[in-house]
Amino acid sequence: MKIMEIEGNHELSGTIRISGAKNATVALIPAAILTDDTATICNIPEITDTDALCDILKYLKVKVNRASESIIIDPKFMENAEITEDFSKKLRASYYFMGALLGKYKKCVMYFPGGCSIGARPIDLHLKGFEALGAKIKVEKNKYTVEADELKGANIYLDIASVGATINIMLAAVKAKGKTIIDNAAKEPEIVNVATFLNNMGAKIVGAGTSTIKIEGVEHLNKCFHEVIPDRIEAGTYIIIGALCGKNFKVDNMIPEHIDSLLSKLEEMGVNLEIGSDYVTIKEPTSNLKATNIKTAVYPGFPTDLQQPFTILLTQANGKSKINETIWENRFMHVPYLNNLGSDIVVKNQTATIIGPTDLKGTMVTATDLRAGAALVTAGLKAQGKTTITNVEHILRGYEQIIEKLTSVGAKITLKEI
Ligand code: EPZ
Repeated sequence: MKIMEIEGNHELSGTIRISGAKNATVALIPAAILTDDTATICNIPEITDTDALCDILKYLKVKVNRASESIIIDPKFMENAEITEDFSKKLRASYYFMGALLGKYKKCVMYFPGGCSIGARPIDLHLKGFEALGAKIKVEKNKYTVEADELKGANIYLDIASVGATINIMLAAVKAKGKTIIDNAAKEPEIVNVATFLNNMGAKIVGAGTSTIKIEGVEHLNKCFHEVIPDRIEAGTYIIIGALCGKNFKVDNMIPEHIDSLLSKLEEMGVNLEIGSDYVTIKEPTSNLKATNIKTAVYPGFPTDLQQPFTILLTQANGKSKINETIWENRFMHVPYLNNLGSDIVVKNQTATIIGPTDLKGTMVTATDLRAGAALVTAGLKAQGKTTITNVEHILRGYEQIIEKLTSVGAKITLKEI
């Protein structure tokens, strides 16, 4: 098992360069099998989720060439095969192989996907979309067989603006006969990045980034080159760390507009931000943080993936703050560990109430999911003394070179195998 040890309460300064977006990458890699030629993708983050998806590609006999932060995917000689439960369970995004294999072969056999235990994480909207396109779904325990004699364009309304369902239906529809309309589609930037990738291959998708996406099916998808957008959640996490511990702390190679909701909340709290075209800098240490309330929402609302790291900031604000989590039913598992570090947080009915400021003192804590882990790193960097985090494999799934990046700005953080 891997652990992280952090000696906290050091002022951090310097520049952190943001990597490619995990939540775009984990869709782009399965989507790449749709090309009839090869797909080259750059700015791929070197994280364990990337490795897990490449393992599935190789199992499907797809040729994969990885260089630093780039990948060439050649599915010309791939074979459609049942994706075993081990592979399916490795991560939530394995389910994008459903849409991609259905779109390419009109058949996919795989198991219920894995992912952080932040909720039940059903896939009913994905399956509803596949059925609307003409697929038949067979479920035996947690094994799914999705197949169609023919895929035909359809009008699909999503009851929830689901990121995964929006992307998965796009993957299944790009080669369907006729036009597909996805209504109440999710609008996250990662969806736009995937649609751009598919259009680079020759797909005909319009409206990605809005709540109505139109897809005209095509027969062939060609060779293409693509770049992953910067990771807005990684950027937001480091900006929160900068607001807590930073002086002349620059988060570079990012798209500030993608986290407008976070940046405006930080300014409302009194954090002094310099916002450039592709960077955000915290020049002076923040003092006198004002308490505030946040409610997570679909894009462009406050991202659920940042509410956990953001909680640490609220433990240092003057007064009472509230976080209302509206997307996931179990996304406060970090709170008991934060209270062990000295925070004063009470969770009731999907709302965390935080009283600040409280002094944080290092102790032993456990990462329960990816963003809970990021929250514990954030807290450890602020806390007096030493914080030890176990189960850090969760964190390594989504933050490329987190030890190197934080060390480069003066953090005392190490990764150990025990
Ligand atoms: C994506 O998950 C992200 N993961 C999540 O980030 C993120 O929290 C989430 O979108 C919301 O922004 C990836 O992109 C790999 P959803 P996804 O489908 O697609 C319900 C991280 O930390 N729902 O938008 O699984 C669902 O239960 C991860 O990087 C259904 O009911 O999220 C949830 O309440 C965690 N039926 C809501 O919709 C479905 O078929 C939003 O889920 C699908 C979803």
